[in-house]
Amino acid sequence: MPRALMLHDESPRARLETLDEDRLPERAVRVAIDYSDLNYKDAMAVTGQGKIVRDYPLVPGIDFAGTVTASTDARFDADDRVILTGWGVGERYWGGFAEAMRVDADWLVPCPRPLSTREAMLFGTAGLTAMLSVMRLQEAGLSPGDGPVAVSGASGGVGSWAVSILAHEGFEVHAITGKPDQGDWLTRLGAAQVLARDDFTERGRPLASTHWAGAVDTVGGQVLANLLAQMRYAGKVAAVGLAGDAALPTTVMPFILRGVALLGVDSVYIPFERRRAAWQRIAALPNALLTHMQVEEIGLEDVESQAHAMIEGRTHGRLLIDPHR
Ligand SMILES: NC(=O)c1ccc[n+]([C@@H]2O[C@H](COP(=O)([O-])OP(=O)(O)OC[C@H]3O[C@@H](n4cnc5c(N)ncnc54)[C@H](OP(=O)(O)O)[C@@H]3O)[C@@H](O)[C@H]2O)c1
Repeated sequence: MPRALMLHDESPRARLETLDEDRLPERAVRVAIDYSDLNYKDAMAVTGQGKIVRDYPLVPGIDFAGTVTASTDARFDADDRVILTGWGVGERYWGGFAEAMRVDADWLVPCPRPLSTREAMLFGTAGLTAMLSVMRLQEAGLSPGDGPVAVSGASGGVGSWAVSILAHEGFEVHAITGKPDQGDWLTRLGAAQVLARDDFTERGRPLASTHWAGAVDTVGGQVLANLLAQMRYAGKVAAVGLAGDAALPTTVMPFILRGVALLGVDSVYIPFERRRAAWQRIAALPNALLTHMQVEEIGLEDVESQAHAMIEGRTHGRLLIDPHR
């Protein structure tokens, strides 16, 4: 019988429970989960921030990778290695903080070789979102010759993968972080410059001196507003997250006077083919990128405390969850 972290709408909110098989949702594919990971949205769900959880009780975990143990859907057979990210899993539907889960076949992507299921979750939703951001910037025409690319929230999951992937793609990356002690690590990931978050949090002018040709913003709020004000002519900004603030206190000036483009990035409901294409690009990345990532491996019982740490901005890199630990 699989163990799972279960969220309840009463105290204690997060409880480790053992589930009878018939308590798992009636969905087509049963997956033995090898790894999940802790994302900002998971941390919000576990700690009860925002309105992430739609129905209680709920097994959180917006992504996982594992091996199919049974399937009534022709697209999957036992022993297939699969990845699940998004689709409202871990928000509306039971998710990945469990030893096994039953899910819809439509939600699954084959785990592309040579990625192991562990490596797939080292990337996880964070790595997928970083890759989607890079694809979005490149599709909008951004290339390394255009100038440097800023990444905010650089020490976080999405941010650190964005630094790493952009550097691998040949871009000059300027990493913006609130953790000066992570500067050396960000440099090892490929950042050419490490900038202090404090320099971006004060309200600035609608248009300021220009620095960057591109940006990946995981923070939102004033940081995104200041990035927009400092983009070069025809700069491209991928808006990914709201770790700082969901508001965007900007003006139309960067858009109408400098032709700056603000590009939205969603990883939850992207269609299957784009999802698979992004995972294939991830699988083709050199192994060295994985060796530079900072990873802490935790079990289901550690999730709640790490979720609080993440909301308080005390985590960095990737938190990999081994549900069998
Ligand atoms: N669009 C999508 O589909 C999608 C997918 C995944 C994630 N997201 C969003 O992207 C954001 C990052 O997710 P994640 O999983 O990478 O989270 P994470 O690992 O916690 O990283 C967030 C980073 O943002 C910075 N930060 C934290 N609190 C902050 C604050 N109050 N003000 C300014 N900066 C702050 C920190 O980096 P530094 O200390 O280095 O500054 C932190 O490491 C979240 O808002 C998440 O919801 C969106």
